[in-house]
Amino acid sequence: MGFVIAVDGPAASGKGTIANRLGALYGYPVLDSGLLYRGVGVRLSESGGDLDDAAAATAAAMALEPAELERPQLRTRAAGELASRVAIHPAVRLALRDFQVQFAAREPGAVIDGRDIGTVIAPAAQAKLYIAASAKVRADRRWKQLTGQGETVTYEEILADILRRDERDCGRAESPMTQASDAVLLDTSEMTIEQAFDAARRIVETARARSGNLPG
Ligand code: CDP
Repeated sequence: MGFVIAVDGPAASGKGTIANRLGALYGYPVLDSGLLYRGVGVRLSESGGDLDDAAAATAAAMALEPAELERPQLRTRAAGELASRVAIHPAVRLALRDFQVQFAAREPGAVIDGRDIGTVIAPAAQAKLYIAASAKVRADRRWKQLTGQGETVTYEEILADILRRDERDCGRAESPMTQASDAVLLDTSEMTIEQAFDAARRIVETARARSGNLPG
């Protein structure tokens, strides 16, 4: 295993941006694990399947092709909701696990963002960040992002989505969203993207120095 950076946190906390920028800085590939769950949810709903049917959702997870992760449909508001519904099924999570574990094993390192990376997928990750922000700030960021993509939606609807998704992600029995005991908490509520990235970079530098893997 190379140097793994696990970036977990709730919806619209800024973890995706931070993960991408860390990957660019160190030259590591970046996996947005949320896209896997989004891909399963969208695949299942397009085939008319029932999101509560664990067997159907697992079949969709096993059939998922990496190329599907590029589909713009996966970036929509609806796909986020579908993702959090299929993500509660333990067999779906298991079906998506190997792909993520193999990604984490890439040399010289990898960045993965999600909900359970530091806890379940890569518990031995050398650097673990848990990115938080208040629900209001997250709703504001997500509203700007989705309206920028052309979606018609109100701030209040997005805030309700985020609160519902937080509850579902934290409350599920299998791999709930939680901060790993050895993860560093980074609250980005009051930070610009630059400030958040800078703080994240310092956390990773500390972890690299500790693991004897100095920045190259
Ligand atoms: O971009 P955003 O944070 O809104 O969502 P995402 O990271 O694309 O994740 C969408 C949904 O997938 C989450 O609400 C979770 O229910 C689920 N997910 C998960 O269960 N485990 C992961 N490692 C990543 C996402």
